[in-house]
Amino acid sequence: MEVSHIQSNLNILILAAGLGTRMRSKVAKVLHRLGGRPMINYVCQTAMALMPEKIYVVIGYQGEEVKGAILKELDESLVEFIWQEEQLGTGHAVNTARKFFEGKDTTILVLSGDVPLIRPTTLAALIQKHRTHRGKGAACTILTVKLDDPTGYGRIVRDETGLFSRIVEQRDASEEEKQIKEINTGIYCFNSTKLFEALSKVGNENAQKEYYLTDVPHILIEAGESVALYQHNDPKEVAGVNNRMELAEMERILQRRIIKRLMLDCGVTFIDPNAVYINDEVLIGQDTIVYPNVIIEGKTEIGEGCIIRSGTRISNSKIGKDVEILDNCLIVDSEIADGCVIGPMAHLRGKAKLKQKVKIGNFVEVKNTTIGEGSKASHLTYLGDATIGTNTNIGAGTITCNYDGKQKHPTHIGDNVKIGSDTMLVAPVKVGDNAVTGAGSVVIEDVPPNSLVVGVPAKVKKILKQEESNAEELVETGSKKEV
Ligand code: UD1
Ligand code: CA
Repeated sequence: MEVSHIQSNLNILILAAGLGTRMRSKVAKVLHRLGGRPMINYVCQTAMALMPEKIYVVIGYQGEEVKGAILKELDESLVEFIWQEEQLGTGHAVNTARKFFEGKDTTILVLSGDVPLIRPTTLAALIQKHRTHRGKGAACTILTVKLDDPTGYGRIVRDETGLFSRIVEQRDASEEEKQIKEINTGIYCFNSTKLFEALSKVGNENAQKEYYLTDVPHILIEAGESVALYQHNDPKEVAGVNNRMELAEMERILQRRIIKRLMLDCGVTFIDPNAVYINDEVLIGQDTIVYPNVIIEGKTEIGEGCIIRSGTRISNSKIGKDVEILDNCLIVDSEIADGCVIGPMAHLRGKAKLKQKVKIGNFVEVKNTTIGEGSKASHLTYLGDATIGTNTNIGAGTITCNYDGKQKHPTHIGDNVKIGSDTMLVAPVKVGDNAVTGAGSVVIEDVPPNSLVVGVPAKVKKILKQEESNAEELVETGSKKEV
């Protein structure tokens, strides 16, 4: 079913005002996250894909937060928020939208904020069925599905001839009705005029003392209107989240969808697809290999031909081609260009930016620092608020002392520099191109280009000739060239 054609005379109403008592949470159910994004945002995204005239979202419990989450992804002009101050049931929730539909005759698609994995194509087919049922369309069309275990859901009761009779909620169902496997997914199409007419007749004489939207179809039948059922065949797609077990199951289903897409459409290898966790918005290039126990979150982009070893978490970062990320790295809000090698056990954060072929090794932390092409920091180092040129080597144990207890200060290191092991760079400070610092130096003043500094505090010991190899100088001052 093509979704691109169904835009005229379609309005979507999303119910998202409830607390979700069964979640046992202080956070509104629809804000609980799936694939790293609030559940409600999946429903909104799907609604958008149908290109309706307008999306209405009924909010109440933590309404401001729900609104905020939605507006992070959807433009304000596309959504109308409707407040349901007291949550008196799904029928009451729909009724809050009444004033927006007075004098209008339109199709209203009702979605639940807690049924996040529904696909646009399924909804398009539901709308099609609703509009063409018996030639002139139905007053209401209910999306149903058969479940092996229907516990908790409203059941679809049919009459002797197999036609729809009514929906009965779990708590109000007889033992016999509880055996019914066909359930109400909480997703429906209504003719707006007939919906609000019927809603006026809904009472709250039931186990929960709520105004049930599920009473509307039966009221319509009584009034001689036609109610259609559209039975879907994929229970996973229409499952609702009511507790944390269901949330975890939903996460698994979503993960399978995401990983399947990455494997089959994008050519990514996951050595164990069940042992990784990849967010919905992540992009990964062809022939990248992801080892078990890797987490990739947020708006992360990874290029082609990368290798990501176990125990690594990458969040909101951009990684180029042919990058190797060894075991147990944490990479947040950072950029890594082509051909870099990171880890094991490296920490990149706060706008760390590595140019091509940079090597960051064991126990190296890089924060708000740009490192030029081909430079290396292989062991036990902290680089914060620094800029480092090309082909520079940062020796083991080097620290940019960027914080004086009150303020952060920058460090600039030029091209082709050799920072000896255990150098303390007390910021603000600059190290010129081709300079060398001896092991254990404490650099408190700028180091001129082409000079060798040693000691505490570090002093210029020698000006190096351009062609002079640094090796002898370093040996002379007690450092090694490669550390
Ligand atoms: C509802 C249906 C049930 C169906 C199931 C499918 C009713 C009475 N029952 O039950 O037949 O099988 O969905 O998932 O409709 N909400 C509001 N305001 C309220 C109450 C609820 O906005 O006053 C919202 C909730 O935030 C939620 C949605 O409506 O997003 C459904 O409410 P929920 O309480 O989860 O209904 P279920 O018991 O699951
Ligand atoms: Ca529900």
